[in-house]
Amino acid sequence: KLKVVTIGGGSSYTPELIEGFIKRYEELPITELWLVDIEEGREKLEIVGSLAKRMVKAAGIPMKIMLTLNRREALKDAHFVTTQLRVGQLQSRILDERIPLEHGIIGQETNGAGGMFKALRTIPVIMEIVKDMKELCPDAWLINFTNPAGMVTEAAMRYGDFQKVIGLCNVPVGMKKTMAKQLQADEKDIDMEIVGLNHHFFMTNVFHNGASRMEEILKKYESLTEEEQTSMKNIMVIPWSKELIRGLKAIPCPYLSYYFFTKEQLEHQLELFEENNVRAEFVKNVEDELFELYRNEELHEKPKQLEQRGGAFYSDAACNLISSIYNDRGDIQYVNTRNAGALANLPDDTVVEVASRITKNGPVPISVGEIPYVINGTVQNIKTFERMVCEAAITGNKDLAIAALTVNPLVPSDRIAVEVFHDLLKAHKEYLPQF
Ligand code: G6P
Ligand code: MN
Ligand code: MN
Repeated sequence: KLKVVTIGGGSSYTPELIEGFIKRYEELPITELWLVDIEEGREKLEIVGSLAKRMVKAAGIPMKIMLTLNRREALKDAHFVTTQLRVGQLQSRILDERIPLEHGIIGQETNGAGGMFKALRTIPVIMEIVKDMKELCPDAWLINFTNPAGMVTEAAMRYGDFQKVIGLCNVPVGMKKTMAKQLQADEKDIDMEIVGLNHHFFMTNVFHNGASRMEEILKKYESLTEEEQTSMKNIMVIPWSKELIRGLKAIPCPYLSYYFFTKEQLEHQLELFEENNVRAEFVKNVEDELFELYRNEELHEKPKQLEQRGGAFYSDAACNLISSIYNDRGDIQYVNTRNAGALANLPDDTVVEVASRITKNGPVPISVGEIPYVINGTVQNIKTFERMVCEAAITGNKDLAIAALTVNPLVPSDRIAVEVFHDLLKAHKEYLPQF
């Protein structure tokens, strides 16, 4: 018996996950997949759950799909638990993106003020899940996709006193695809060294069959077009200057655009704000369209339209991770895990996003040594922000939360921090039990 539980099972991303499990059924013979949601998500769960059942049936695979609103029943004796929930649904994300923009600062679901409030809403729920897991499936792994994945993973480890949690993101997977393309290599022969945090890392080396090809990649990045630089669908790409690439000798992950092109990204977001088309609003339309398609009884596979989402292909990251733990494979994947010395100038017990070997005992992060000093500053800054936000999420310390915003480079003024905090607090009140 191999039991997997997905919390937030009614998500529009679920067909992605199902496809991944179907593809890997031989190496990962899941007998039961439980999709869990809450009352507010009942309808979505039923629609996406029926599609999941049709997909599995069409593939001729004996994997049982169970739908439930009873999380505790689902968690009993699970082997793997994945979290992809969104507290307050897309309506809350719209507020996370629009309210900061009203104050003239970046509005983004995982960065700055929006990212902070997503963490403040999500961490209390994750703590409940961790508590249930300790009681009902203490040996299971928690694979968390819920954003902000780095902070959520940090909170589960530090305040949930739960070590079997791994945070996952598809950005490194996308970057690896880009590397394979640029080096005209097979993806499976590429490994990267990445240094930093979720949505805030730098690629500091890339290997093809074990040999570094970084010099070549740095050279290429001096003249790559926007489309060549990244495959992320949800971020406006502005090519990095050759000076930045040469100066850092590293490739920033796409989300660093909000920090290194703050002015341009803000201008772009303000235009979208005026058009009532910030990313969350755009995504809401895509979701409505997706659920229309999912309702169709004739549909037996993941529809193409899902690729418009930033998380497209995240199942590769998810299913490969679960499979490598299950099979004790020891391959290299990019995960949010306990630093344990991998980045020498960060504490051992903090969560970082780095290349790790995936074994049956979980990720073993590969040691990098000191973070190169040219990128150390921004990594330490954001880690400080994350730690402050996690603590505020648990304790409900408003001063700490506001100070965290002021420390964050996307918030240019203490006064704005105070004001935007109170506006977001008011808007999200019902999902913030700690305040
Ligand atoms: C990327 C990030 C995810 C994020 C997604 C947003 O994939 O890695 O963490 O959830 O983009 O995509 P969306 O289509 O919702 O804007
Ligand atoms: Mn991500
Ligand atoms: Mn600041």
